[in-house]
Amino acid sequence: MARPDSLIIAPSLLAADFSDLRGQIALAEQGGADWIHLDVMDGHFVPNITFGPPLIHSIRKETRLPLDTHLMIENADAFIDSFRSAGSDIITVHVEACTHLHRTIQHIHQSGAKAGITLNPATPASALIEILPYVDMVLVMSVNPGFGAQAFIPSSITKIREIAGMIKEQRLAVHIEVDGGIDTTTAHSVVQAGANVLVAGNYIFGSSDIPTAVRTLRRSAKPPVIV
Ligand code: DX5
Ligand code: ZN
Repeated sequence: MARPDSLIIAPSLLAADFSDLRGQIALAEQGGADWIHLDVMDGHFVPNITFGPPLIHSIRKETRLPLDTHLMIENADAFIDSFRSAGSDIITVHVEACTHLHRTIQHIHQSGAKAGITLNPATPASALIEILPYVDMVLVMSVNPGFGAQAFIPSSITKIREIAGMIKEQRLAVHIEVDGGIDTTTAHSVVQAGANVLVAGNYIFGSSDIPTAVRTLRRSAKPPVIV
């Protein structure tokens, strides 16, 4: 896993052409994507259904990039080992969906994956207080999970800043990922607030030039200093 001070672009396959995932992943890689973000939805925790371990197993054969798996499911514990065996490198669970969150994080680590936790837009940063030292990544949802191409929720910026402060204060090495409505108009402010992993679905895979979209997003997140 990269250091938390490096900028990571994680294209979300949710917005990709599912009939050509091999080609879409190759284009994202050409543009310099760092991770591939995989949105797993169960139709219970979120009002949508996507895919599970078998598809991830196929994707694993197509790329060497870390597979960043965002579980929007109930009863994540029952599936952690299957996602890990399928090839997930990072497994992120929702605090709202895990009754025994500490145990779930332990389970993810025991499987050999890195562990992330994520907060819905209405869940405050304070929900992280007890669990923060045990995780590798915090994912701030900047839209309500379930669908791509939704509008960025501006209050996410304050939350990212607050979480970045908690991480700094405790001297932890934890990534802050942000997911939902990330494009060239929002990337810079979330990075300024302290995020270092940018998930983007629609901006990248909705583009007619996927490699350029990855590069443009990266550039917009850290605009050159003009002297
Ligand atoms: C939403 C997913 C996101 C989604 C983001 O539930 O977690 O990863 O793909 O899509 P965009 O970038 O289109 O907002
Ligand atoms: Zn996601």
